[in-house]
Amino acid sequence: MQVDLQSPWRIGTVEIPSRLVLAPMAGVSVQAFRRQGRRYGAGLVCSEMVSCAGLQHRNERTLGYLRIASDEHPLAVQIFGSEPVTMAEAARMIEAAGADVVDINFGCPVRKVTKTGAGATLLDDPQRACRIVSEVAGAVSVPVTVKMRRGLENGSRTCLDVGPRLVEVGAASLTLHPRSAKQMYTGFADHSLTAELVERVDVPVVASGDIAAPADARALLEQTGAAAVMIGRAAQGNPWVLREILTSDSAEPNREEVVAELMVFIRETARELGEQRATSFLKKFYGWYLGRGRFPRQFKAELTQLPTIADVEQRLLIAAPGAADVLEHLEAELPAGEAIELDLPISIYGGG
Ligand SMILES: Cc1cc2nc3c(=O)[nH]c(=O)nc-3n(C[C@H](O)[C@H](O)[C@H](O)COP(=O)(O)O)c2cc1C
Repeated sequence: MQVDLQSPWRIGTVEIPSRLVLAPMAGVSVQAFRRQGRRYGAGLVCSEMVSCAGLQHRNERTLGYLRIASDEHPLAVQIFGSEPVTMAEAARMIEAAGADVVDINFGCPVRKVTKTGAGATLLDDPQRACRIVSEVAGAVSVPVTVKMRRGLENGSRTCLDVGPRLVEVGAASLTLHPRSAKQMYTGFADHSLTAELVERVDVPVVASGDIAAPADARALLEQTGAAAVMIGRAAQGNPWVLREILTSDSAEPNREEVVAELMVFIRETARELGEQRATSFLKKFYGWYLGRGRFPRQFKAELTQLPTIADVEQRLLIAAPGAADVLEHLEAELPAGEAIELDLPISIYGGG
């Protein structure tokens, strides 16, 4: 069945205005990434995974992940952990911070996470996974969703057994990235499993993995019956791919637009993370934005060597002087910075 990518759908009571979901990506999905994703057509954006233990201990950096801007909604904040009660408490904090959806990570394959009993390992402990979903869903009134891999081992079909059980205990939607945890990012996402999962549950399923072009998205929705597609790596430094997938308009951004969007991204990220942390965090984004044949390799390398963000901005404007006007227009349309910073409720810090 043909699905209009621009048609709305729902997760529980939350209306999602398009069939594109911007993937949660650790080290990538900062507020600037999510806001930009919304501007270019993502119907739902997600935070990177947030540690429930970090929230429990009121870790300052972890709390920073709960900062939500007014123009991000609808937004899912994703949590990872292994203790149902701690995770339920974290979900309450996330709801209080203003998230529209709480998403639970049962997909992270990274050892640092799996060795604590969190992430993809929970697919091999369905009883605990169900207790987590049940506790979290019972703790908040916003919808609770789950993102998972196909299973731990190559060829695993665990997601097809665990998925329906998670729905029974309260998951309002499932996102499937049908690679095994062992595969990490090698091979390909086997979306025949996505189609099978859709058959087995009566909640919306989101398809994640290897979607980078309008044809991929449309074919996947038609062939699997998924409610939406999730875009991850293809959108790194490339919000234009979201517009392209949504509208099939393949117009490439010009150099001025690329530089202006990168500068908005730099400024917002510096405001969110602080100048020092942002300086190193941003380096990978220079390659992502300026790559794809948009600027010479040498130029990208040069930017990563510059000591301050002001130096980077200056160098970018020398390379594309016309970007200053585009930037001015873009910034005029965005909500003011202060409003964004004040969005984190003081109570989250325990009143201190
Ligand atoms: C750098 C990076 C970080 C990621 N971090 C997360 C994460 O925090 N939570 C999560 O559920 N998935 C995470 N993922 C997986 C993506 O959300 C997505 O499922 C996967 O990349 C496949 O989609 P893609 O082919 O569109 O990139 C991450 C992926 C990448 C590349």
